[in-house]
Amino acid sequence: MVYRIFIIGLLSAMSCHVTAESLYLQEINNTVLSERQLAESKEKLAAHKDLEVREKLDMPPFHKRGQLNASLEYNTCTTCHLSPPHTKSERTRTFMNMHTQFIACESCHFRPKDKVLSYQWEDVRDGLSLKGKAKLFRQVQSTEEKPLERVKALHSYYKITPFYKGEAAVLRKNSQFAQATKRIWEGGVEAEKIERRALIHAPLEEKGPECSACHDKDEQFLDLSKLGANTYQANKIYNNIIAQFFARYKDEESRLRIMRLLK
Ligand code: HEC
Ligand code: HEC
Ligand code: HEC
Repeated sequence: MVYRIFIIGLLSAMSCHVTAESLYLQEINNTVLSERQLAESKEKLAAHKDLEVREKLDMPPFHKRGQLNASLEYNTCTTCHLSPPHTKSERTRTFMNMHTQFIACESCHFRPKDKVLSYQWEDVRDGLSLKGKAKLFRQVQSTEEKPLERVKALHSYYKITPFYKGEAAVLRKNSQFAQATKRIWEGGVEAEKIERRALIHAPLEEKGPECSACHDKDEQFLDLSKLGANTYQANKIYNNIIAQFFARYKDEESRLRIMRLLK
């Protein structure tokens, strides 16, 4: 009898693990939307429609859309967002889109203040974490015999991802929630779309962290040694001239002068 109860307990613990929700999905499920959030979502949806229409009129679209990034198709964000997604900030969009090749959307946009997340490499195809390795970084150390080698990890399936209790805190595309989102986005009525958009964005930040969060040795948003970076790679990331340059420009209006980068 005791034995059977044990087995049943074990089975339900296992099935519980299989269907465990990511922290992000838990936060969505715990969200009670306010009137203000719904009103805001309605406005944003209207703005999005304008954007879609303009995208279609914009010929040729090459410079806008760029290369379709296959590795981004594993997240739910690209059900609605362009791939790559950043279009609005002329100054940073190219850099932010470049980062989507090796950093998950949620690392920058899902940053709950009351939880400690651990940033690890994830294979976006199966959602499992990978042990940190120098090879996962794009820049590989130069040696005397071998000149600086830059790994062309374009569209990499390995991305730095927030983990919570051993599970990636992301919205996976094969989840029921993501599949329902796709149905709503493609065929739902407007009220459903507004609500779904508001729920998905409620736990998110509008912007990512400052460049310095990851590129300044004193901030350590990411634990680079845990991610497998060697000293050479960590120094490259901490002494990144472009990130340092951005840190000097706080206000949106100031202009980037390439000449100053060269001084
Ligand atoms: C159901 C569709 C949908 C999904 C899924 C979705 N978004 Fe959005 N998102 C929108 C729309 C619509 C807007 C507003 C208009 C625009 O920027 O295109 C928006 C805006 C944003 C903004 C700008 C700030 C804001 O709140 O307006 C950010 C940042 C963002 N989304 C990030 C994400 C991330 C990260 C994911 C995935 C975890 C995601 N979105 C998933 C539809 C979606
Ligand atoms: C390295 C950090 C970083 C990553 C990774 C990242 N973002 Fe962003 N995102 C930002 C920042 C910073 C902004 C603020 C505007 C800007 O600088 O472009 C932003 C703004 C946005 C916006 C609103 C502005 C716009 O250009 O439309 C959307 C939508 C968005 N991100 C979606 C996404 C999605 C979807 C992903 C994953 C495919 C993603 N982001 C990955 C940092 C990031
Ligand atoms: C969430 C952390 C994070 C944020 C925020 C971030 N970066 Fe990075 N960035 C990285 C990491 C990690 C790498 C190294 C990737 C690798 O080597 O594989 C990197 C690499 C780079 C590179 C070098 C790319 C290459 O191939 O050599 C540039 C340039 C850069 N970042 C600029 C910026 C700028 C500018 C900002 C702010 C607008 C920014 N980064 C914000 C994490 C971040």
